[in-house]
Amino acid sequence: MHILLSFEGDKELDLSGVLPRGSKRSAPDQKRLSALNKFVKRVLKSESFKGRSGEVLKIHLPDGFPSESLIVLGLGPGASFHPEVARIAAATARRRLPGALRGKKSSVLLHLDPERMTSAWSGRKKKGDAGPSRQPIRADFDFGDVVQAVTEGWNLGGYAFVEYRSKSKRAASTDLLLGFLSTPKASAASLKESVKRGEAVAEAVAFARDLGNTPANVLNPAALAARARSWAKQCGLQCQVLDDKAIRRERMGALISVAKGSDSPPRFLVLKYTPTGGRRGKKPLILVGKAVTFDSGGLSIKPARGMEDMKMDMAGGASVLAALGAIARIRPSTPVIGIIPCAENMISGGATRPGDVVESRAGLMIEVVNTDAEGRMILADALDYSRRFNPRLVVDVATLTGACVVALGDVASGMFANDPEVAAELSRASEASGELLWELPLYEPYFGQIRSNTGDIKNSGGRGAGAITAAAFLARFAEGLPWCHLDVAGTAWTGKEVGYKNRGATGFGVRLLVQLALQAR
Ligand code: BES
Ligand code: MN
Ligand code: ZN
Repeated sequence: MHILLSFEGDKELDLSGVLPRGSKRSAPDQKRLSALNKFVKRVLKSESFKGRSGEVLKIHLPDGFPSESLIVLGLGPGASFHPEVARIAAATARRRLPGALRGKKSSVLLHLDPERMTSAWSGRKKKGDAGPSRQPIRADFDFGDVVQAVTEGWNLGGYAFVEYRSKSKRAASTDLLLGFLSTPKASAASLKESVKRGEAVAEAVAFARDLGNTPANVLNPAALAARARSWAKQCGLQCQVLDDKAIRRERMGALISVAKGSDSPPRFLVLKYTPTGGRRGKKPLILVGKAVTFDSGGLSIKPARGMEDMKMDMAGGASVLAALGAIARIRPSTPVIGIIPCAENMISGGATRPGDVVESRAGLMIEVVNTDAEGRMILADALDYSRRFNPRLVVDVATLTGACVVALGDVASGMFANDPEVAAELSRASEASGELLWELPLYEPYFGQIRSNTGDIKNSGGRGAGAITAAAFLARFAEGLPWCHLDVAGTAWTGKEVGYKNRGATGFGVRLLVQLALQAR
């Protein structure tokens, strides 16, 4: 099985990889190649295949060719090509494999042209084109990045969550072979490295998706801690789990107040990646992830419609956990620590009431005006806990607000930072990874909305600017730390299958966070 890629406007496809190469090619091979060329050209014409992005054509070949069919995938105009395009194309190819191949152990040859893929780009912003960038993915990539993206797309295109079907429908793996239509500038060893990176990242994204898709009766805080332990072992991470007793000892009053209404006690996970070699004194990158294993809203209960999706309210924590695993496999030179507060937001006679005041670990008194604003509570204690590690940068990832879903949908995550350099660092990781961010402001007046009459701060600022006031609340607990908050409420979950994304949990943030660790000096 061969997969060919075509830029929009390509007059002809390079089919030379379909038959044996150069000197190994016999005279009859040459003949067959030109016959194949003619045949494919005719089919493309009759199907009016343009090579537009997302366009797919399956061609059944006549007898006498090495495979029964070809898949031709459109990449769109060469001028706007970047690794994200390749990632989507590879996932599309995987999904469109002929039924006969799907579910069977088989291999597929994807033809890439290193020369064209790295030279075609011209998507830089034109001079004088100020304002928001409509092409937010970075211009400077090399062929290794394309190979990594293809590997990620291929593996994620094969993702399915079938754990809870009575008859397991798990498909067998289909190996992807990469064929090059021109000689890559990168060495074979470095391209192998790119493939390995892509595999580590894709496995981590799949792990994060699995966690997000797992029902909350199975995945409570203790179960999440157990999965973290085995993942840490598998990837080579240190893992520490604080149970409810230890959490009380740490005086994490905000986390406790959320967990109080549930029969499942909270957990607090700390994962560590330590680079090999000398630079042990380096300040760590800290990743904090919200893990509410189910969010009923508590006494400020959520409406029934859609409440079932709130099993995904631990997606931020899942992405942090997953990213740390990939980081431990790729082994960048910067130390990284993951902090994941886990709780279930439920209702009982012991549940926190609206109007209650609780003391956070930082000592700030929080008035709980809405028990459904629980994410920021557990993050407040986690952000404060991060101080003990003297971090270089703290990034939290959380399915924090419905307001962010309204603002940015499932396309981009909201970004908030207390330092423009931090925002720039995150934007760079976003552009390289293809996981989109959009910065929202933390102007001083927003902090007025969360001033409390009873305590020091209240946990909800009301309807207006809901994503921002949630971030402002977090900012109070991150004072003095270089910090950034990512609201992934809209991006962690999707209702439709698009590109390399499945319905359900997306694993958003894993690629971004891995990239952040890799690009750190
Ligand atoms: N987990 C939700 C946010 C959410 C909404 C995630 C939709 C994914 C999809 C969060 O805990 C929440 O309930 N936020 C409230 C805050 C409000 C009560 C201040 C919200 O956004 O309505
Ligand atoms: Mn909530
Ligand atoms: Zn929540």
